[in-house]
Formats: sequence, structure tokens, C-alpha cells
Amino acid sequence: TPLVVAIDGPSGSGKSSTARGVAQKLGLAFLDTGAMYRAATWLVLHSDVEAGDTDAVAALVGSADIAIALDPARPTISINGTDVTEAIREPVVSAAVSAVATNLAVRADLVARQQSIIGSAAQGIVAEGRDITTVVAPEAPVRVLLVADPQARVARRQAELGERVTSSEVTDQVIRRDRDDSTVAQFTEAADGVVVVDSTHLTLSEVIDRIADLAPT
Ligand code: CDP
Repeated sequence: TPLVVAIDGPSGSGKSSTARGVAQKLGLAFLDTGAMYRAATWLVLHSDVEAGDTDAVAALVGSADIAIALDPARPTISINGTDVTEAIREPVVSAAVSAVATNLAVRADLVARQQSIIGSAAQGIVAEGRDITTVVAPEAPVRVLLVADPQARVARRQAELGERVTSSEVTDQVIRRDRDDSTVAQFTEAADGVVVVDSTHLTLSEVIDRIADLAPT
């Protein structure tokens, strides 16, 4: 059976870059599940549905066509035919995503889509998010919880965002999203059988190597 590598972690833990690197190193597909929640959020923000109207949001997302490219060298995502690869990284989407991601009907829908994507990845896949090791792919042979100290997570997020923001703004955003996502996942301890990798004092390539080494040969 094709290899599945499941990676969870909080904002700024480096899980997207890590998961892409692991996929490239092992020749696997790559699924960023956060991009799906972000695309759903982008759609809500570009509709006349209120983010707080749970039934309307679930109906809107449920009928949406989400197309995600699984190439780790070029992950793109479209929703209802619009390429939102860049737009989903905008701060307005980051600020609204927890409200959409805590909608249980949206979660059930996106989890089912993610499971079907993982199940049809013939060459194997690295999937990353917040509930991959526990809900989406609890049977994955490699399951990792990627953690890092809050200061390291803030520094990384700020490096990604560049000049656009101050460090106190980023601190507020990272801490707030930890809190807003706390019903999705706590990250205080890993589920049974999940390997914890602390990236605080490791380089990206060290983290990638460590996770790739967990794959059965
Ligand atoms: O920006 P960051 O890397 O922290 O987040 P992301 O991976 O792009 O995910 C964005 C948001 O989607 C998270 O803050 C969660 O609210 C939600 N999410 C989720 O609920 N479950 C997942 N498996 C992945 C993301």
C-alpha cells in the first residue's frame, strides 16, 4: 500500500515547508489541508454568507468544487474555478479561518475530501494540518507532531510575512489563532504512537531528514 505520512502542528511550526520537503525527498504527493480550510474561508468572504451562519457556510462549502494540486514543487488550489493559491495567504483570510474551521459540518466535509485524496494518491502522500494524525489519517504508518517554542514560531511567521507586519502584530496573531483553534487541536501532547519533533533548534533540512528517516524502507 502507498505510504502515508501525517504531520500536524500549530501555526509557525514549519509544517508546510517541512511536509513539502519530506514529500520531495521521498517522492510522494503533498496535501496542505490548511489550504483547503483557507480556500473555504476565501469563498465565504467572497459570498454574501455571514461567517457565523453555520448552516449557510456549510451549504456553501459543501457545494463548492475544490481542486488542489498535489505536486510538492507547485502546490496550487482553486475553488469554484478561481485560483486562490495567493489570495488564501492574505491576513483577512488568516483572521477568519478559525471561524470556518470550527464549523463541524465544514470539518466533516473537508475531512471526507482529504481522506479520499489520500486514498487515491497512488505514489503515497505527505498530508499536513492539525488533525491528520488523529482524525484524517490515524492509521498512517508515519505520524508526526511538529512543535516549536512560541518565540520561534513568531519569528518564522514574521520572516514569511516580511516587512508587512511588526513582531507584536505577529505575536498577537499566532497566539490568537492557537486559542481560536484550540477546539480543533491542543498540541500539548501527541496522540498515542505519534512522534514529536521539536523544530525550535533544528534547521529545515534537519527536520526533513528526521521525518524522512521514520519512513519504512
Ligand atoms: O498559517 P498556518 O500554517 O498556521 O495554518 P494553516 O495550516 O494554513 O491552517 C490554517 C487554519 O486552518 C488553521 O488555523 C485551522 O483553523 C485550520 N485547519 C484545521 O482546522 N484543520 C486542519 N487539518 C488544517 C487547518
